Amino acid sequence: MTTTLLLRDCIEDASERFERVDLFYGHGTDNSWDEAVYLVFSALGLSFLEDDSVMSRVVTVEEAVRISSLVDRRINEHIPVAYLVGEAWFGGLPFRVDSRVLIPRSPIAELIADRFVGLLSDEPLKILDLCTGSGCIGIACAVAFPAAQIDLADISVDALALARENVRRHEAQGRVSVIQSDLFDQLQTSYDLIVTNPPYVSREEVDELPLEYRHEPELGLVSDDGGLDIPVKILRKAATFLNEGGVLILEVGYSWNALANRFPDVPFLWLEFANGGEGVCMLTRQQLLDSTQLFN
Ligand SMILES: C[S@@+](CC[C@H](N)C(=O)[O-])C[C@H]1O[C@@H](n2cnc3c(N)ncnc32)[C@H](O)[C@@H]1O
Repeated sequence: MTTTLLLRDCIEDASERFERVDLFYGHGTDNSWDEAVYLVFSALGLSFLEDDSVMSRVVTVEEAVRISSLVDRRINEHIPVAYLVGEAWFGGLPFRVDSRVLIPRSPIAELIADRFVGLLSDEPLKILDLCTGSGCIGIACAVAFPAAQIDLADISVDALALARENVRRHEAQGRVSVIQSDLFDQLQTSYDLIVTNPPYVSREEVDELPLEYRHEPELGLVSDDGGLDIPVKILRKAATFLNEGGVLILEVGYSWNALANRFPDVPFLWLEFANGGEGVCMLTRQQLLDSTQLFN
């Protein structure tokens, strides 16, 4: 007698297998059930918007084998689901991802969805996503601000190749440019808004991170000087690349305390998030100019 395997069974099985081992969640989900849904739906090419009846969909033997081998790899090699299925979601938008880029998870997605409400005096027409990786922040900005021109900048040629794919996927080539640059070095214009999620993890902390992070490019995580080297370089130069009235949004994650302590006289505005996350600050061009000597 053969039993019919349903989608629900597959997800329950994957979730139970995840529960039995020590996995880290945090690259798109925060629990074993959501992780299993993410893996199984993506592996089968199903939309997350399907109604509940999809749970009774029959899973073929071939599909079950494919899912089981992905679950094996998630468990045995600690590869985040986003890399296994080649796709991550950011601000409700899908992005192609692989080991060339960090998996999108910045709380800045919430600010973009709210169109930076209360933080900008005017709608931004020129936006820079510095340290763009997959391009998720800049492309989400392009969707949120249909009149804006966006530059995506990163030092990594490999990351930029993938960012270009994502620009094409979202049909944003007309408004979104991709630039290889060591921070601001190759940039030649100024912006109304600079948004950046740069590397901010110290070398010592990287070694302590769960195994899942080892699959991410070190270039996307590590910053010298206890994590602050790259963020401080950005703070030093950002005003030069901002238009009058322009704003910098900078993520430094859990390094926010160290940054605030190093520069107690800088008026960082630390933003709050309804959906979780911390360590994102805002400074206006004028505040950056007023703090120039401190950063130098
Ligand atoms: C934390 S990841 C952020 C990726 C993406 N913005 C996101 O939020 O998912 C940091 C990115 O900074 C890039 N990067 C590292 N050093 C850089 C530098 N000196 N100049 C420009 N980009 C750099 C890395 O290649 C990586 O893609």
